Amino acid sequence: MKVIIAENYDEMSKKAAEVIKDVVKNDENAVLGLATGTTPIGLYKELISACAKKEISFKNVKTVNLDEYVGLPKTHVQSYDYFMKDNLFNHIDIDIANTNLPCGDVKDLDAECARYTALLGKMQQSVQLLGLGSNGHIAFNEPGTAFDSTTHIVNLTENTIKDNSRLFDDISEVPTKAITMGIKNIMNAKKILVIASGKNKAQAVYNMIKGPVVESCPASVLQNHKDVVVVVDKDAASML
Ligand code: GLP
Repeated sequence: MKVIIAENYDEMSKKAAEVIKDVVKNDENAVLGLATGTTPIGLYKELISACAKKEISFKNVKTVNLDEYVGLPKTHVQSYDYFMKDNLFNHIDIDIANTNLPCGDVKDLDAECARYTALLGKMQQSVQLLGLGSNGHIAFNEPGTAFDSTTHIVNLTENTIKDNSRLFDDISEVPTKAITMGIKNIMNAKKILVIASGKNKAQAVYNMIKGPVVESCPASVLQNHKDVVVVVDKDAASML
């Protein structure tokens, strides 16, 4: 793993954006694996600005997102579909038909999992961006998820519901289930870029990089991938 320690959130966002920009500059048909959460917002702003300056173009780029809540329609402000449009897709020159997210608002969730896994089989991520849950989760793969998992439905842990409740009016509104890319789908990416910021991620960052490779810390599996770049700010790196 290549670990880059940035001074603060803004520098983390800039350095991580460079990694994505390089991928797009070298391959205009790149497949970007994208993530939600508050951590990537600064990075997405950097990509929007690079696109506005015509430094990069997303015209032929395709995207696959990690996860989505179950039960929220795409139009819901807390859905990850809405988040991606609001924070990135609506502000760059991407063809929205080239963007993909799993859908958590369908009757047959098993069929949706199979559809998304099949799609990922046809679209290997040139780079997969990952945030980090404070309990070491990646996408919505909670502690204990099998390393050979593909797209599946998850019951979110209390810890994750509590963490994510800050974005909702009330904790009772946070969905209790999600649909997520599995760990095997993430590990299939050619390159993986992990970003983390803040003291509440320090333990997870430590476990990911220096802990044993165990299913109780999903992010630790990344030690087995041959091309991982970790960009963290000083607070998130404070236990390394
Ligand atoms: C959610 C998402 C993850 C994300 C994590 C951290 O649980 N499913 O993909 O990495 O939150 O979010 P944040 O960046 O807001 O700390």
